[in-house]
Amino acid sequence: MKVLITGGAGFIGSHVVRLFVNKYPNYTIVNLDKLTYAGNLANLKDIENKPNYTFVKGDIVDADFINKLFQEHQFNAVIHLAAESHVDRSITNPLEFVYTNVIGTVNLLNAAKTLYKADPSKFTKFYHVSTDEVYGSLGDTGMFTETTAYDPHSPYSASKASSDHFVRAYHDTYKLPCVISNCSNNYGPYHFPEKLIPLCINNIKNNKPLPIYGKGENVRDWLFVEDHARAIDVIFHNAALGSTYNIGGHNEWTNIDVIRLLCDMMDDKLGRPKGTNQQLITFVTDRAGHDLRYAIDSTKLQKDLGWKPSLQFEEGLSKTVDWYLQNEEWLTNVTSGEYANYYEKQYQN
Ligand code: NAD
Ligand code: TYD
Repeated sequence: MKVLITGGAGFIGSHVVRLFVNKYPNYTIVNLDKLTYAGNLANLKDIENKPNYTFVKGDIVDADFINKLFQEHQFNAVIHLAAESHVDRSITNPLEFVYTNVIGTVNLLNAAKTLYKADPSKFTKFYHVSTDEVYGSLGDTGMFTETTAYDPHSPYSASKASSDHFVRAYHDTYKLPCVISNCSNNYGPYHFPEKLIPLCINNIKNNKPLPIYGKGENVRDWLFVEDHARAIDVIFHNAALGSTYNIGGHNEWTNIDVIRLLCDMMDDKLGRPKGTNQQLITFVTDRAGHDLRYAIDSTKLQKDLGWKPSLQFEEGLSKTVDWYLQNEEWLTNVTSGEYANYYEKQYQN
């Protein structure tokens, strides 16, 4: 089986590529990535020389390139993770999200459709990796299920919702064999330090302010990234065509509680007196259109396919902090140059 994984040099994609390359030596894994600011081949150093792994640099927005790539490789399946993924960037530059997340996805669907029509026995699956943010925002109670109506609020979630709709449309209209999953917030190694948890780990390490939007009362449902990768493996191999699965850890935290926990944990790990890091907490202007609460009901995945999260949040967060403290070079590389300027400007806003 020859599997195309898009966005494999990013945060979640690199964990999925690593899992598939190591677990399935008989598969050929082709990782297609544009290497935007979020894509980093250093994330895959440990597997880059494996015989069943190939990297291709390219842009999913370029339809000609995508069609040629599919014809050349005759993929049997696609796992699509490539995306612009940061809500704050989508507020600054929504069109970039339309190009990559919507047009890029449709380009991949078209190329997959051509292979599927040529030989339906050979192209067997288009797996689209999506987010719980398509469902919008919850109040104090309730959870997102697979049948919750879409109600996106940010340009990022609107672009992901649009891509999900296109995937379903290609399944229903052209019988393209598609599967979708919608996952809650991930955390773990190789997470780009513009997102809440790695940003705060980096700032605590450097004694910089921790910018908390609004009052820090927004709730996210955190899942360790390797648990997401395992869920993708299980769904890829076992889900019925045309189905959707929600993935989440039943692990809701307000942002301020996450950051207080992180501060205390890093006081211990860095040998600072208890309470030191919490003094870095700084409340800043709220994000526009900020969703109040996300919570995923993953009962369907747990009951149908037997997946469950493997780690408690405190354990996963501790592993994550240790990884960042041990991988100083990775952190320095991704926070230097152009990105560092962006990061400073964001905070000043
Ligand atoms: P990321 O931003 O870390 O990585 C995205 C990858 O896509 C990068 O390697 C980047 O270079 C690549 N890419 C971007 N534009 C491209 C283009 N035009 N052509 C080819 N490659 C391109 O993102 P992530 O956090 O790893 O998210 C991966 C996927 O999972 C996304 O589809 C995202 O919507 C979804 N998701 C993320 C989370 C989360 O918490 N991070 C949760 C649920 C779902
Ligand atoms: P983020 O990591 O950007 O993920 P998402 O917006 O996809 O959920 O943000 C997680 C939460 O943390 C979200 O409620 C916004 C908040 N947040 C801050 O308070 N400060 C920050 O600097 C960032 C990046 C996020």
